[in-house]
Amino acid sequence: MIKTVYFQDDSLMLLDQSQLPDKLLYEKCDNPAQVADAIVRLKVRGAPLIGVTAAFGLALGISNYRGPAEQVDQYFQATRKLLASTRPTAVNLFWALKRMEKAYMTHRHLDLETLAQVLRAEAEAMFAEDIAINRAIGDHGQEVVPKGGRVLTICNAGALATCGYGTALGVIRSAAVRGKIDKVWACETRPVLQGARLTVWELMQEGIPVALITDGMAGYTMQLGKVDLIIVGADRIAANGDVANKIGTFSLAVLASYHNIPFYVAAPLSTIDWSIDNGAQIPIEERHQDEVRLIAGSYLTVPEVEVFNPAFDVTPQHLITGIISEKGIIKPPYLSALEQLKTN
Ligand code: MRU
Repeated sequence: MIKTVYFQDDSLMLLDQSQLPDKLLYEKCDNPAQVADAIVRLKVRGAPLIGVTAAFGLALGISNYRGPAEQVDQYFQATRKLLASTRPTAVNLFWALKRMEKAYMTHRHLDLETLAQVLRAEAEAMFAEDIAINRAIGDHGQEVVPKGGRVLTICNAGALATCGYGTALGVIRSAAVRGKIDKVWACETRPVLQGARLTVWELMQEGIPVALITDGMAGYTMQLGKVDLIIVGADRIAANGDVANKIGTFSLAVLASYHNIPFYVAAPLSTIDWSIDNGAQIPIEERHQDEVRLIAGSYLTVPEVEVFNPAFDVTPQHLITGIISEKGIIKPPYLSALEQLKTN
């Protein structure tokens, strides 16, 4: 399985997803500012991977810190804030940084070298846990895929968006090894084309049958009876079950409801933001207007046209058939089901 992030000596190597599928290139980062920049530019993307990469970025910073010993705390906090400022929607980023801060606070009395090792081990643990969680999501989720299943997805919630295996694509992988997948419909996912560039590439690497459609073709594909279920990932889930995910997800959920097609969200429990009651409180990232105006460096419209470019949308919980987590499939009513998971 493709490695999305790993340490090599004293550098962090990041698979540059902005170059896929043309080039398989790794970016070498020697400091947290380079890691933050890679996240902002979507070289590294996908909620779980953003979180773990930021954790590695913090470990990298402490590893390579050469300033005065009495200023390490200050440096750690400044680096944590820098990484936290990269992308606002995926809660996994803040979850991972909080976990690293806890590890730092517990071990800050140690000498710098040992402290750096502890932080690196914490980030490595998150990496390994993420893969195990995705496999559990896959095992639970494959149960909802019928034999001969035709599954529609958007964006890339695969090995590339995580530390390996994937969430929505993890479910598809687990169903595929059981011979259940007839076809995956990959929505291209305008404007950054994660579906066309990443999901198609990832599935074709493994011989899982995939067909590409533009986002606007999803409704007609459903109307033709060619979609059995929809599985998407998530960037943040509110305590009531509302889900923020890649722009276009909400439209798919409405279309699924109209056509009576089950609509599932696959995500680790770390994607749940227990501090917010509903999706209206989720900060939605707005990205540069040029992402919509240009394709592969060429304008496809009048260069001065005004653009609205939200990177995510919110799907209300009542449109969601189930949330596939590492602990099983969560069914409505979500408020009480999620509350119960929190206390267990
Ligand atoms: O802007 P991106 O590419 O980071 O958006 C990613 C998504 O919306 C994914 O569906 C989500 O993070 C889940 S990834 C397992």
